[in-house]
Amino acid sequence: MKEWKRIYLSPPHMSGKEYMKVEEAFQSNWIAPLGPLVNEFEQSVADYAGVKAGAALSSGTAAIHLALKLIGIQKDDVVFCSTLTFVASANPILYEQAMPVFIDSEKDTWNMCPLALEKAFVEAKRLGKRPRAVIVVHLYGQSAKMDDIIELCEAYGVPIIEDAAESLGSTYKGRKSGSIGKFGVYSFNGNKIITTSGGGMLVSDDEAAIERCRFLASQAREPAAHYEHQEVGHNYRMSNILAGVGIAQMDVLDERVEQKRRIFQRYKEALSGIEGVRFMPEYPETRSNRWLTTMTIGRGARVHPVDIIDALEQRQIEARRVWKPLHEQPLFHQCPFYTATQEKPTSEILFQTGLCLPSGTSMTDVEQERIIDTLYDILRTRTITPSQATRF
Ligand SMILES: Cc1ncc(COP(=O)(O)O)c(C=O)c1O
Repeated sequence: MKEWKRIYLSPPHMSGKEYMKVEEAFQSNWIAPLGPLVNEFEQSVADYAGVKAGAALSSGTAAIHLALKLIGIQKDDVVFCSTLTFVASANPILYEQAMPVFIDSEKDTWNMCPLALEKAFVEAKRLGKRPRAVIVVHLYGQSAKMDDIIELCEAYGVPIIEDAAESLGSTYKGRKSGSIGKFGVYSFNGNKIITTSGGGMLVSDDEAAIERCRFLASQAREPAAHYEHQEVGHNYRMSNILAGVGIAQMDVLDERVEQKRRIFQRYKEALSGIEGVRFMPEYPETRSNRWLTTMTIGRGARVHPVDIIDALEQRQIEARRVWKPLHEQPLFHQCPFYTATQEKPTSEILFQTGLCLPSGTSMTDVEQERIIDTLYDILRTRTITPSQATRF
């Protein structure tokens, strides 16, 4: 059997300059969750996003958690959240014993549907329960329909947390993803467009809130000569060493966006002629970082995404299904869910038909050819079986 070199979905891609920054941390002995490189990294990301400030944290999840705390989340509050996303978008709502309410996707961006959001707002008003926040996810790098979402949130007086964990480098009407809501959240997890191995950042134009975020992320230690604490804090700060990695990665962010977009384009040109195959759209006036190339396999195609994933796996190629909507997760079975119409929810259709393809920027053209050839073979030659048909 042929020995294939494994192709991962979205592995880290170092520029080679990270060592120098890490070395700087060692030379200065700032081996701590604070230090000059943390400050420099925060400034670099805030400048890139076009916002006033950023707080470097241990993860994107921590950033969402602290955004909710800064907004003043209380036990039994309601928070609206996109349903088609990774569990980390909503877990912090549960940390605070609040209730997530999930909002379906629409077809143009795969993100939060403004019509479904409006329904949820109307119902919340009827029940006299204004949500504390709306968490809007920009899935796989594609921005949500922010104008419509902002209009609704402003009308109901509810702040927006942009979960831009997957969309660093994307733009919406020329503005950087994550810079539009009250708070923006980035992730530097190993699979993201740039990485610090693990890490995240909360950004905002509200400098006082970001300063308080740093305080809450450092065990809420009061300014005193001894250890003084008045409220619950967290150990959520990013280390100075990892911030060094982040600074070097920021230098290649725009290059990575272009590389990801080229990867998407090559897949699209090679495969979109096949019946039933569609690629994630790019909404007018938005520019996606194409973090993961994502496509759907509709009824016209002759295989199910699971079969494609299995076939790719046999050739050492890692692919994944689109996120399972959170309203379908057992963890959230008690949470309300809003969709715009009586039809099958868009998020459920995307889960059933969607597939994420390897999109690592260190992938060679030859490796991508191998993936395309494999996909082409499966999509063109497999016939659908009755058992597969029922899965659509
Ligand atoms: C949409 C989304 N939100 C939040 C997160 C959480 O980020 P982290 O892994 O840095 O906690 C991730 C990714 O991991 C994500 O994809």
